[in-house]
Amino acid sequence: MATMKAAVCTRYGPPERVRIEQVEVPTPQDDQLLVRVRATTVNRTDCGYRAANPFVIRFFSGLRRPKMPIFGTEFAGDVVGVGKDVTRFQAGDRVLGWCEGTFGAHAEYMTVRADRPLTMPIPEGLSYVEAAPSTEGSHYALSVFHSTGLKAGDSILVYGATGSIGSAAVQLAKAKGLKVTAVCGTANLDLVKSLGADRVIDYQTQDFTKDPERYDLVYDAVGKHSFFKCRHLLKPKGIYVATDRPLLHKPFMFVPVFAWWFLLTGITKIMRGRRQMFAQPRTDPEGLKWLREQILSGAFKPVIDRTYPLDQIVEAYRFVETGQKIGNVVIEV
Ligand SMILES: NC(=O)c1ccc[n+]([C@@H]2O[C@H](COP(=O)([O-])OP(=O)(O)OC[C@H]3O[C@@H](n4cnc5c(N)ncnc54)[C@H](OP(=O)(O)O)[C@@H]3O)[C@@H](O)[C@H]2O)c1
Repeated sequence: MATMKAAVCTRYGPPERVRIEQVEVPTPQDDQLLVRVRATTVNRTDCGYRAANPFVIRFFSGLRRPKMPIFGTEFAGDVVGVGKDVTRFQAGDRVLGWCEGTFGAHAEYMTVRADRPLTMPIPEGLSYVEAAPSTEGSHYALSVFHSTGLKAGDSILVYGATGSIGSAAVQLAKAKGLKVTAVCGTANLDLVKSLGADRVIDYQTQDFTKDPERYDLVYDAVGKHSFFKCRHLLKPKGIYVATDRPLLHKPFMFVPVFAWWFLLTGITKIMRGRRQMFAQPRTDPEGLKWLREQILSGAFKPVIDRTYPLDQIVEAYRFVETGQKIGNVVIEV
């Protein structure tokens, strides 16, 4: 039996629950690739699933313990085996992709369906480390454009423009032809400008809620603000979307928080004025095709904060949970 090194988590809890172990190399099914993972990421989704926070995650991931004990939603590596139905890839191809739902990228080898829309060749000249963080933040950012129906010429304010989702939202909004105002800390003003923001507001020296501009979309990419505090920044039919809610992470608060959010979303929709929405990780095939093109052409470049070797993945989790990473944290496998 062939074995591999993997970051395994068999009980929900803090980063220390993750251990490096030798486990069996998975076998690809007929429609899957076997990938030798060279780089992956630790992101907020991994943190949420590892800690079962918010609690609602247990309903998808296992009530008492994680059903899938190897996390990791993004990967870059080499195809080393293919199932008999696979025609798009062959052994030796360099691939990157997104595998939220099935996970498994925090290991030397993983299997993934070849026909997932974001499984794609690594663009020429891109290293595994540069390629690995291409899909998670960008997919979440894109799903906002999909659900809000924004079009070229509309205006967006991205709050938390230095997170993985926020930094992707700035780049993708610009690529979609939107007018982009980004909010970030003093140290990262130049970085966020370089991502394409038309205007940058420093949240450490200015109160962005006093901005005189009005927006079609206020996107709280770090989930730390509120509809009521940002409502006046919206145009009459403008939309406020947040990726998260701090209260959601308090024990047993997910039921009232979700109930309140759905209620507020419903009421604001019925009233047909300024609306609020929760960022749902959903997009359409056309959107995914467009995102593929952005990644393959090099138009979208994920921001990387730092890298860790797989053996230090617990440190990576601790750092990501400070909430201060700039873009993405990559694990070299
Ligand atoms: N809805 C979904 O399906 C979904 C999926 C994945 C993730 N999420 C959530 O989305 C959120 C964002 O995740 P992420 O990985 O993109 O980024 P992240 O790790 O949460 O964000 C880190 C960045 O946010 C900035 N930041 C932190 N607090 C801020 C504040 N009060 N104002 C402005 N900027 C602030 C930090 O910069 P400074 O150090 O300068 O403050 C840092 O660069 C998380 O809460 C995550 O749980 C939601």
